[in-house]
Amino acid sequence: MKVLVIGSGGREHALTWKLACSGKVKKIFIAPGNPGTGELGENIPIEALDFSALVKFAREEGIDLTIVGPEEPLVKGIVDRFQEEGLRIFGPNQEAARLEGSKVYAKWFMKKYRIPTAEYEVFEDAEEAIEYIKGKELPLVIKAEGLAAGKGVIVARTLEEAVDGVNSILVDKVYGSAGIRIVVEEFLAGEEATILAFTDGKTIVHMLASQDHKQVYEKDQGPNTGGMGAYAPAPLVDEALMERVYREILLPTLRGLQGEGIDYRGVLYCGLMIKDGVPKVLEYNVRFGDPEAQVILPLLKTDLVEIAEAVIEGRLEKQQIEWHDKKALCVVMASGGYPGEYVAGKEISGLDKASSLPDIQVFQAGTKREGDRLLTAGGRVLAVTATGDTFKEVIEKAYEAVDQIYFPDFHVRRDIGWKIFKDQEV
Ligand code: AMP
Ligand code: GLY
Repeated sequence: MKVLVIGSGGREHALTWKLACSGKVKKIFIAPGNPGTGELGENIPIEALDFSALVKFAREEGIDLTIVGPEEPLVKGIVDRFQEEGLRIFGPNQEAARLEGSKVYAKWFMKKYRIPTAEYEVFEDAEEAIEYIKGKELPLVIKAEGLAAGKGVIVARTLEEAVDGVNSILVDKVYGSAGIRIVVEEFLAGEEATILAFTDGKTIVHMLASQDHKQVYEKDQGPNTGGMGAYAPAPLVDEALMERVYREILLPTLRGLQGEGIDYRGVLYCGLMIKDGVPKVLEYNVRFGDPEAQVILPLLKTDLVEIAEAVIEGRLEKQQIEWHDKKALCVVMASGGYPGEYVAGKEISGLDKASSLPDIQVFQAGTKREGDRLLTAGGRVLAVTATGDTFKEVIEKAYEAVDQIYFPDFHVRRDIGWKIFKDQEV
């Protein structure tokens, strides 16, 4: 069959890599893709939000299945558009994608269906928000309602930070229409974990737990990024906790969606805060995480096409989903300066050498090809993923591969996986 992947990041390279392992897939197209996906399939120069061109391409090329990587096309209704044309596509429709597209909606939904999450209020007026904040204990968390590429969340530890945060979103409109409203919520302490799940709207099946490393510097210091590294399966989420997540979060979310008459088919991402064994939802996303996909997909034994078809056709209950009994860890190599300003166009060397190491996949994100040179073209440039039998082994392997790669002013966190060992001797 012919498959189309939408997107151009490390997650989409990992999706393409996994699809390329499928015996069912004859050809993969990626729109727009990156040089890494171009080695596994054919990149098509169509942007992820150009729905008309994507639909036209899918029809003319006879695409059997389309898989959407990023949130923006989902929130803007790409799935509805493809379905109207009778094209098969994996991902939630526009109504379902509101769980990520509007934090106000997601909070309302969680409250209505008693899904554990932080207490919150919604504001449109900056002065009212500031009055409210003055009567509350700090820290508090301030979130722009809409999509802000992972940047619309401010953890305010002082009143000044809170006031600046409110004003930047509601008055200065730094996130434009994504910041017409804000959610102000209680700060939750604890440790974060990501639980991804497949759902066909009737059954929900969790994947392996993973952990992202959001902050740019070691020991989780500095501003949040899209993610500087990840690993799976996260030891923090043992069987008992996963059972609790299923009972208190995944199943009530599915029942809530059904209660709202929403037919959710695709991947659901639950960003959790866990304290003393109690999980609470920080956010929903409606797609694979990036870089979580780069560690989850290499551990997935079952053919992703089989699962995607079962989800689309509503037969997930009968679909086997198997995992390799291994660990995976990924280290993101970023442009120096990211998530702030950085200079792109730097030459990357050593990638072939790194990729040829055993149990290493180098997923490309912000890269571009110019002649036979590979250049940086984004904040997160590469996601170097190792698989192996122990976390100690995958950490060593991943950094060994990272050390083969060079581009001027690159930045990596040297401590990806540190939480695995924080309570014990290595
Ligand atoms: P979100 O996009 O809502 O997941 O927020 C991004 C990041 O901000 C999360 O991964 C957390 O690190 C942090 N965060 C969000 N909400 C809270 C909260 N209520 N308490 C503590 N940290 C939070
Ligand atoms: N790694 C966080 C996200 O994909 O939203």
